[in-house]
Amino acid sequence: MKRALVTGITGQDGSYLAEFLIARGYEVHGIVRRSSAAGAQRIEHLRRETLGPAPRLVLHDGDMADGSGLARIVREVRPAEVYNLAAQSHVGVSFDQPTYTADVTAVGALRLLEAIRDQQEATGEQIRFYQASSSELYGRVASTPQDESTPFHPRSPYGVAKLYAHWITINYRESYGLFSCCGILFNHESPRRGESFVTRKITRAATRIKVGLQEKLRLGNLDARRDWGFAGDYVEAMWLMLQQPTPSEYVIATDETHSVREFCEMAFARLGLDYRDHVEIDPRYFRPAEVDLLRGSAAKARRELGWSPSVNFSTLVGMMVDEDLQIAAAERDHPPRTSM
Ligand code: NAP
Ligand code: GDD
Repeated sequence: MKRALVTGITGQDGSYLAEFLIARGYEVHGIVRRSSAAGAQRIEHLRRETLGPAPRLVLHDGDMADGSGLARIVREVRPAEVYNLAAQSHVGVSFDQPTYTADVTAVGALRLLEAIRDQQEATGEQIRFYQASSSELYGRVASTPQDESTPFHPRSPYGVAKLYAHWITINYRESYGLFSCCGILFNHESPRRGESFVTRKITRAATRIKVGLQEKLRLGNLDARRDWGFAGDYVEAMWLMLQQPTPSEYVIATDETHSVREFCEMAFARLGLDYRDHVEIDPRYFRPAEVDLLRGSAAKARRELGWSPSVNFSTLVGMMVDEDLQIAAAERDHPPRTSM
């Protein structure tokens, strides 16, 4: 049985990737950071389903800020594949917490690569490594659509941290022969998306407005354009990258671009609402520097990995609205109780 180690397993992508790997017969080990609250809701179903004498999902306490802990986990698990999905992944937050973002998102990747390099040297067993790079690397884009040869110009502390992680991953391949890949993934969403990212913020609010739980939605820049795909499709591309004969970089995207305004229009319209009656602009949500336009060409991934997206923009919006409508209705019917 192949063993994979996933950092960021409690996040959106981590949960879909763990499902994907378990379905393919992997034993999945995940790194979970300490929290005072229960933080593993997205993988709770997998924990329940895979319980038993030889559990297929094993969680380890760890933090990307703690290099010795990461090294110990890599030694104990002896993974064949490592997927580094952990990050302070919110672009807006990275302007308020730039040092923390650099430590976790940039140096965290280096700490993990060092642990892998040492382990590989000690055991002689190859460990294949996936780094979650981002279309935020393109920032102020030089040309559209963006592909693997488009120059990088990140526009946030998050983007700059991801740029470091991207290049150190390539550097460890060139310096030490590590099988290390970078997936340059454009925005991907799902009903499991964190609620502070714009798509989920919109679908949560629109559905709560529909059932009468709130009236207004405050947003920042409605004119930013993104290439939005479905997270479930994108984790398959991560896995495919590590199954290739040689490591490389791949853009994963839909080649379609839509504005935040279009997302609002479509989400509210699905509920029979007009977004203009509910959305208010709040300067708090504007960023000091913005990425205006992203649209990716995944031609290389289509050609070499045989990958293509299965969910288009309108299906994605519909999927998120429909799931959030159920959550909103349950909230209305059974308001959460706070304990004393
Ligand atoms: P996410 O939902 O924000 O998940 C981030 C994960 O990282 C969570 O499991 C989080 O744990 C964990 N984490 C954060 N700080 C950590 C630390 N100090 N130590 C250990 N774990 C830590 O992000 P996502 O959307 O799944 O994205 C996965 C990765 O792909 C991220 O690296 C992101 O930057 C990158 N990416 C995402 C997109 C996208 O559109 N989704 C596009 C390109 C690249 P908690 O649950 O405890 O917070
Ligand atoms: N979050 C948020 N909240 N964004 C808003 C809001 C708001 O209230 N109003 C407008 N926006 C705009 C942002 O300014 C940005 O242009 C766009 O909506 C998308 O914002 P996010 O959903 O926060 O995503 P992101 O594009 O900044 O970053 C995501 O995608 C990257 C890949 O390109 C994250 O998942 C990153 O981790 C990922 O690397």
